Amino acid sequence: MDRFKYLGQLVNINEIKTVKHDVIVLGAGGAGLRAAIECSMQGLSTGLVCKSLLGKAHTVMAEGGVAASLGNSDDRDHWKVHFRDTMRGGKFLNNWRMAELHAKQAPDRVRELEEWGAVFDRTKTGLINQRNFGGHRYPRLAHVGDRTGLEIIRTLQDRGVHQGIEVYMECTGLDLLKDGDKIAGMVAMWRETGEFIIFRCKAVILATGGGGKAWKITSNSWEYTGDGYGMAYEAGAELMDMEFTQFHPTGMVWPPSVRGTLVTEGVRGEGGILVNSENERFMYDNIPERFAPETADTEAEAERWLDGDKEARRPPELLTRDVVARAIRREVKAGRGSPHGGAFLDIASRRSAEDIKKKLPSMYHQFKVLAELDITKEAMEVGPTLHYFMGGVRVDADSQMTRVPGLFACGECAAGVHGANRLGGNSLSDLLVCGKLAGSGAVDYIKSTATPNLNDEQAKYIIRSATNILNRESGESPYLIHEKLQDLMQSNVGIVRTDELLSEGIDGVMDLWKSFQSVKADGASQFNPGWHQAIALRNLLITSEAVARAARIREESRGAHTRVDFEGERDEWLQYNVVLSKNDDGTMNAEKVHREAPGKELERIANLSIEELEAEVRQERGVE
Ligand code: FUM
Repeated sequence: MDRFKYLGQLVNINEIKTVKHDVIVLGAGGAGLRAAIECSMQGLSTGLVCKSLLGKAHTVMAEGGVAASLGNSDDRDHWKVHFRDTMRGGKFLNNWRMAELHAKQAPDRVRELEEWGAVFDRTKTGLINQRNFGGHRYPRLAHVGDRTGLEIIRTLQDRGVHQGIEVYMECTGLDLLKDGDKIAGMVAMWRETGEFIIFRCKAVILATGGGGKAWKITSNSWEYTGDGYGMAYEAGAELMDMEFTQFHPTGMVWPPSVRGTLVTEGVRGEGGILVNSENERFMYDNIPERFAPETADTEAEAERWLDGDKEARRPPELLTRDVVARAIRREVKAGRGSPHGGAFLDIASRRSAEDIKKKLPSMYHQFKVLAELDITKEAMEVGPTLHYFMGGVRVDADSQMTRVPGLFACGECAAGVHGANRLGGNSLSDLLVCGKLAGSGAVDYIKSTATPNLNDEQAKYIIRSATNILNRESGESPYLIHEKLQDLMQSNVGIVRTDELLSEGIDGVMDLWKSFQSVKADGASQFNPGWHQAIALRNLLITSEAVARAARIREESRGAHTRVDFEGERDEWLQYNVVLSKNDDGTMNAEKVHREAPGKELERIANLSIEELEAEVRQERGVE
């Protein structure tokens, strides 16, 4: 019998290929690539492991642009305004230092991308062009049509490969190895052959993105199974802010096969409006008090703003995503939705066909091909889709290191930058800024760390846990468990939550954990998607349990977390993050943890009125 087909239990650890690097980066989206480039540039032997093909990263789903206060399309922009917008969008629950680093460093990261070959759209004077997005005071999103994420990945991938990063594609990270409390490596599995591989390293950077595949309606692709959350949690790191899951307001709702697919916020940034079945522009009735001073309350003013009138206020369609998603849901609930349970997004009546095709080529193509609809002539049907995790692995702001020495996390996998709600375009800037920080953090850590020892028993345990799924005589189908989980998360841990729904949700997840104990994939180890699905389930379940538990604990509504039994933000809750970790007995611990107080200067900036901040920026620049 060929033992590498894992039909027997025996694993002789010496037969498993072992590869040595200084650092392993898991995940080859923008954050992973940027972290790997940093490590490699600073002389580390760097292995980049990704379960998909290189270039097929979820980063490409951030279509509309990367947020950075370059000030090319409106010279009033400044890092302080970006920081203030990010804090307000995050409902002040953001990690202050992370939001500061993000806003300060984003412009350099974008310019660096350009130096590395990214071809951004241009202003008439040849600068990187910037467009409007929800919650951003000025046009701030540097973009490449509606394919910005794709261009970023292409650029980073080119740079990384030429930099000498070693890439392990179609290779799934299973779990981390430790020497005492420190990281010592990772066990992974080649998806094609089912063979295992052991990576020895001093540091691991997790950049695996989020876990949207726990929901039924999601913009996320198959890779998004919360792998980094699961692996970090198992290794002793903490998860934080997991209750804040972002429902992007505009996913496709029809046809069913593509439900959830992203419709970029760029459509609204280019002037698209939302209307209900009665042709009412309902966002005017959904302007929260906090944003009222900066939001147009008449169509005429919104038009003036789109035409570049700097005195006008921005259209309500460009309110933050949490606000827009809830407003669409409200229209549907009130019986004023579109035929397939969404709202209408109309760009056809606002922009010429030529403009639409030029500015939003992917959207034009997407609707033509997937929905047989011409967006230059008809309105799209859109509705909320699970898009992004604001929460994730708890890390130090400057180094991105977790509480496990040698374990780092960045991008969507890490918590902190976005607080209770992320502004569109801030994910691309986050992954560039925090990817670089994580790379530098790993370099510093590795310099002062001795080579850790590998523990064979740990590796064997990880491998056996995976092979048991194949070796059971019978058991539960991984596909059925996944389907049940998606139904449960969609109905109980969705856009609107209550204690009752969440309690049922937690019970449901605990039942699925029981099913998971006997999950069985048929077939051998080669080309076995059922096996891969079963392996991903462990991480999906950890992710789902963490979201449901955190959501139940947070008894208020803030940003993307809406509790109808606890309406509105509660000041007391601004003092806490919900932090989750694994107890010694294997259960999940979820607790309220006091947040660090903000530095006085950052708090001052975030609380200035926009007029005061604009005046301060003018004074700083010596212009009146
Ligand atoms: O709507 C979008 O293009 C998505 C961008 C983002 O999530 O940052």
